[in-house]
Amino acid sequence: MQILILGGDGYLGWPTAMHLSAHGHEVAIVDNYLRRRMCLEQGVEPLFPVPDMHRRAAIWEKVTGKRIAVHVGDLRRWDFVSEVFQSVKPDAVLHYAEQPSAPYSMLDRRTADLTLSNNIGVTANVIFAVREFCPDAQIVKIGTMGEYGTPNIDIEEGWLEIDHKGRKDKFLYPRQASSLYHTTKVMDTDLLWFYVRTWGLRATDLMQGPVYGIMTDENENNPELMPFFNYDELFGTVLNRFVVQAVVGYPLTVYGQGGQTRGYLNIKDTLQCVRLSLEQPARKGELRIFNQFTETFSVNDLADKVVRIGKDLGLHVSIRALPNPRKEAEEHYYNPVHTGLLDLGLKPNYLTDDVLAQMMQLVMKYSAAVRPDIIFKSVKWS
Ligand SMILES: NC(=O)c1ccc[n+]([C@@H]2O[C@H](COP(=O)([O-])OP(=O)(O)OC[C@H]3O[C@@H](n4cnc5c(N)ncnc54)[C@H](O)[C@@H]3O)[C@@H](O)[C@H]2O)c1
Repeated sequence: MQILILGGDGYLGWPTAMHLSAHGHEVAIVDNYLRRRMCLEQGVEPLFPVPDMHRRAAIWEKVTGKRIAVHVGDLRRWDFVSEVFQSVKPDAVLHYAEQPSAPYSMLDRRTADLTLSNNIGVTANVIFAVREFCPDAQIVKIGTMGEYGTPNIDIEEGWLEIDHKGRKDKFLYPRQASSLYHTTKVMDTDLLWFYVRTWGLRATDLMQGPVYGIMTDENENNPELMPFFNYDELFGTVLNRFVVQAVVGYPLTVYGQGGQTRGYLNIKDTLQCVRLSLEQPARKGELRIFNQFTETFSVNDLADKVVRIGKDLGLHVSIRALPNPRKEAEEHYYNPVHTGLLDLGLKPNYLTDDVLAQMMQLVMKYSAAVRPDIIFKSVKWS
């Protein structure tokens, strides 16, 4: 397939580009380096520098002989979007291109406005471009498990059948996001569902949990092909942050009681999930939703694992319970269904002791580069 990856410079976008290219697909990536610019603006940086998209594509071509086409530009601009879609003519579009940080979206009015206008604006342009230039192409969009919040009932995969006063109907599962960023993801899903029913597009929305890890099959022997690895509060996901904190002896930043439970997955499984969803597409007129994670952990579970494995590796790891800067339930029921991707063929890479130890050992090689001053900023929700 000819696959267009939007957000191809990102933490997930670049590893996905290599993975799909390695699996025989023609890949084109698009990005405007927004993520890099937000990091610069906030004075934070990834654990190690990452070459730009042209450089990474050149390295990939040298190593594999496979080409990844690169397009630099803002997907909110219709002239740029239409030019890219017409030149690439995709069979499928993978949409990662959003402002992905909950704390960034809660910093102030300006970052809230950027998150809203960027995320909804890009999704709308993608929908209009698919309709105009490639109406048979599947849109695979990355949503988040955070759209559902933490309801006191089981979370289904996207849809809920309701029996009300003797009549039945099926609706999008009720969503109650806990940050502005997550709320834009809810709006994305609503927008996509509106146009799927109106124009008969085909789409898969992957409700993904927090991702951890750096190593994938494609970058194992080449550090220059590794993705961004942020460990700051704004752009680092929780387990990635804990691993870096453990390595430099910074007490693990557990918020509140630490009972916040979420569905997690290894970056290798993100790649599998999106490939499986692309290769076995939704039908025309279908919005297919999968819950994309492999196992659930509370924040305390993760912290305890990091302490235990850190000690095995000779590190001095401690935990510091901090007043929770966010507004979220710290103890709650959590039981989400996640069978759809397993049915498509997902073979999970679980968070074993070995996986965590390998991640910590890799981060230990870069420990001198860690800046403790950017680890915790305490971005408050109110
Ligand atoms: N990383 C996770 O744990 C996680 C979990 C759940 C959902 N997600 C979702 O997955 C997607 C990718 O996340 P990520 O962690 O790789 O984030 P990321 O910030 O590393 O990647 C997103 C990329 O999109 C680009 N982008 C954003 N707006 C753009 C625009 N207007 N034009 C062109 N490019 C633009 C950014 O520059 C960035 O490189 C996001 O939609 C995010 O919401 C991520």
